[in-house]
Amino acid sequence: MSVLLQVKNLKTHFFNRNHVIPAVDGIDLNIEQGQTVALVGESGAGKSIASLSILKLIPNPPGKIVEGEILFNGTDLVSLSEKQMCKVRGNDISMIFQDPMTSLNPVLTIGEQIIEVLVYHKKMTKREAKEQAIELLKLVGFSRAEDLISEYPHRLSGGMRQRVMIAIAMSCNPKLLIADEPTTALDVTIQAQILDLMRDLKERTNTSILIITHDLGVVSEIADKVLVMYCGQVVEEAPVEELFSEPLHPYTVGLIDSIPTLDSDTDRLIPIEGHVPSPEQFPKGCRFAPRCPHAFERCFTETPDLITMNEKHSTRCFLYEGKGRKK
Ligand SMILES: Nc1ncnc2c1ncn2[C@@H]1O[C@H](COP(=O)(O)OP(=O)(O)O)[C@@H](O)[C@H]1O
Ligand code: SF4
Ligand SMILES: [Mg+2]
Repeated sequence: MSVLLQVKNLKTHFFNRNHVIPAVDGIDLNIEQGQTVALVGESGAGKSIASLSILKLIPNPPGKIVEGEILFNGTDLVSLSEKQMCKVRGNDISMIFQDPMTSLNPVLTIGEQIIEVLVYHKKMTKREAKEQAIELLKLVGFSRAEDLISEYPHRLSGGMRQRVMIAIAMSCNPKLLIADEPTTALDVTIQAQILDLMRDLKERTNTSILIITHDLGVVSEIADKVLVMYCGQVVEEAPVEELFSEPLHPYTVGLIDSIPTLDSDTDRLIPIEGHVPSPEQFPKGCRFAPRCPHAFERCFTETPDLITMNEKHSTRCFLYEGKGRKK
């Protein structure tokens, strides 16, 4: 498989009056053609900032990509002008967000919104765009697409709106779809339908997907490969089965242990103790040390490197030193 996206040592920092906030602090991320990669971690880990960086949508000021490369089909997006990036956003990489209502325009019908995108980016006539809009809505599972195009967003349920957003995102045949918590606002049944839809679209169109979520249940449903983020860094990367069968990093183990299972009541859920530190003051040494059940003296003073355990599995923890090779 060929590599579509190659993020190398990406650092996106925010600059406030007194602080540098290293929201994304040196991540590497590869996505192959047709692959679904999940970025997981608790709120504040830097997942959204990492994905917005790929699209160069970081508000500047206060934010800035300070280091690294984002190679998309070999072209470094970091060095592209805003005009060139607009083309990339319209043709190659699309994004959907958690709350489809904020991304849909309330005063335009569903049809008008899709047609607008197709006329602008695909240079279609209105008539061609309308036909294509109906096709796209069918693609995302609306059987009565002809009627739906004249509806306004507020008339649709959350799940339907998210389907519309996916239709809009797919309208340019993107090579990469970035989905930031696409199912978080939806109830469980609808969540499963949206994940099914994304899987189905990927199979049919071979689009690569970067899915961002705090939910390991979602990861197990859809991902081929997983990157676990903590405090702006990747702490573990593995194929999805291996991440669940052989989690290495104490943080990953904690996340997996805190998944509620069907036969357990919520009382038995074991959350990771403590909370995610603020990026304004990441702890010295291993950033997970204050919460880590295995932390030892060195963890509070030295920073662990990412260690490659096998070709596809790496982790950032001193416990594995000498068991793999440093990246
Ligand atoms: N506009 C901003 N100004 C300053 N800091 C920000 C801004 N946006 C995000 N951050 C910082 O980046 C961190 C990571 O945010 P984010 O990527 O949204 O986390 P996640 O998506 O993993 O929940 C936040 O904890 C916050 O401190
Ligand atoms: S380096 Fe130390 S503190 Fe960090 S995860 Fe490993 S054992 Fe825990
Ligand atoms: Mg987020």
